[in-house]
Amino acid sequence: MAEPVLVLEALSKSFGALKVTDGVSLAVAPGELHALIGPNGAGKTTLVHQISGMLTPDAGTIRFRGQDVTAFNAEKRARHGLARTFQITSTIASLSALENVALGVQAKAGHPLSFFRNAASDERLNRPARAALDAVGLSERAHVPAGSLSHGEKRALEIAMALALEPAAILLDEPLAGVGKEEGERLIGLLKSLKGRYAMLLVEHDMEAVFALADTVSVLVYGRVIASGDPAAVRADPAVREAYLGEEG
Ligand SMILES: Nc1ncnc2c1ncn2[C@@H]1O[C@H](COP(=O)(O)OP(=O)(O)O)[C@@H](O)[C@H]1O
Ligand SMILES: [Mg+2]
Repeated sequence: MAEPVLVLEALSKSFGALKVTDGVSLAVAPGELHALIGPNGAGKTTLVHQISGMLTPDAGTIRFRGQDVTAFNAEKRARHGLARTFQITSTIASLSALENVALGVQAKAGHPLSFFRNAASDERLNRPARAALDAVGLSERAHVPAGSLSHGEKRALEIAMALALEPAAILLDEPLAGVGKEEGERLIGLLKSLKGRYAMLLVEHDMEAVFALADTVSVLVYGRVIASGDPAAVRADPAVREAYLGEEG
């Protein structure tokens, strides 16, 4: 198997007395779509925040592309090719879709935000931004303000912003949340089209989507990985079934 692009080793994080990440270890191979599932409050978002650099773990290490990035801040991790989308939409409503993506390209280049005024017509930013919009099927919507896009289109835009970083890995925290069925299906199709090209860690509630997309599924319960592996094997795992009975029963 190829050297994993992302490796978590014994990651732990507490909020006060609450242990939210409890010795989590997992690895994501290049091009692998690794789904992270688990009940509400299991610690999925907290884990993603530690990987992206928004939160510092109390213990454990995060290795990315062979390098220990545990001490890197979020910007530095992004520049190394670790991109993320948020559970809550993070686009700038008044800027067009293209401008939002161009901002991301600019951030990668390391320019301060204040340069953006001149950047709107800069082809070095716009060309990769248009390519990213194209990859998510938003070419026709390039000049629409992000605030006027539909829910699903905003999610696709966030994915375009991640792609514009030319990442090696993408962290996606519930990209289907709040999106209707039809748009959800389009987003699943989009994620499918990205499969194999990027390592992806996908936090998702929609089980149909998870089992349609994932190469590997890890199940997080109370901050611990209780099962990890092939989707069919994880689905059949009695411990996983038990963990979900409480939520759905
Ligand atoms: N900044 C914080 N301070 C204190 N508790 C937090 C904080 N962030 C999350 N938590 C708690 O940690 C647990 C896991 O939250 P979260 O990672 O958002 O779970 P998930 O994404 O799996 O639903 C929850 O009990 C939540 O209330
Ligand atoms: Mg969450």
